[in-house]
Parts: sequence; C-alpha cells; structure tokens
Amino acid sequence: MLLLFIAAYASIEFSGDFPKGSDSRSAMKALHFSFGLLVFFMAWLRLSMRLLSPTPHPEPTLPFWQRQAARRAHAALYALMIAMPLPGWLALNAAVALFHHYVRGDNTLRRMLPKRS
Ligand code: HEM
Repeated sequence: MLLLFIAAYASIEFSGDFPKGSDSRSAMKALHFSFGLLVFFMAWLRLSMRLLSPTPHPEPTLPFWQRQAARRAHAALYALMIAMPLPGWLALNAAVALFHHYVRGDNTLRRMLPKRS
C-alpha cells in the first residue's frame, strides 16, 4: 500500500515535468488515476479481509493504552487510504459531467440529477 501511495504521488508530481497537452503528461496522469484507484479498492479489500479473519492478539499482552493507540492508528490509516483517492475521483466525475453539459450540450448531467415531480 505504501508503494502504491508513493507511485500515485510520484506520477502526479512528475507529470509536471512534461509539456502541457503532451502524451507523456496524459500518460502520467492516467497512471496517477490508476494507482490512486488501486489504493482505494485495495483498502476495501484489506478492510473486508480484516473483518472476516481478525488478527491474533499480541502475546504477551500489551497495556490497555498501547492497544487503544494501535487501534486508533490503524483506523486512521484505513480512513486515509479510503479518503485520499475520493476527492480526485469525484472531481473527475464532476468535470466530465460539466463537460457534457456545457461543451457537448447533451443531457448527461440532467440524467444524473434526481427526477423532479
Ligand atoms: C492514494 C491516492 C491519491 C493521492 C495520494 C493523490 C494525490 C494527489 C496529488 C498530490 C495531486 C497534485 C495536487 C497539486 O499539486 O495540484 C493530485 C492531483 C490530482 N488527482 Fe490525485 N491522488 C490520489 C488519488 C486520485 C484518484 C483515484 C484520482 C481519480 C481517479 C485522482 C485524480 C486527481 C486529479 C484529476 C488531479 C489533478 C491533476 C491535474 O493537475 O490536472 N487522484 N492527486
């Protein structure tokens, strides 16, 4: 997961080294989306595996405050793995819907909105 994070971060950072509109820049952005989405889906996979087969208790046991600290740190890591990719994904989706509405002038955006009675 750490390597995927690094790859997602590095691909968007290095995309700036290529000229705007170039194929290489688009390819780096596409890599960024792929790595980012992989983080998102792998996080859910990890979470479901963890719920299905709980991790063994540490032996010898740890003080209560250390177990609590570890639990919270893990929860924060899972939240990060799920929350980081979301804004990019949503912004993408939103940009494409606006493109359809204002540039192509089709009804894609209207079809996404709830029906008015
Ligand atoms: C581990 C997950 C992710 C991390 C850590 C991450 C991080 C970043 C960072 C650091 C930037 C550059 C911001 C800036 O300096 O302007 C960025 C930009 C962006 N990200 Fe992500 N991102 C992740 C996942 C995603 C996903 C899943 C998508 C979409 C499918 C996405 C779409 C975008 C877009 C559209 C941009 C703007 C690119 C541009 O400049 O044109 N990101 N992201």
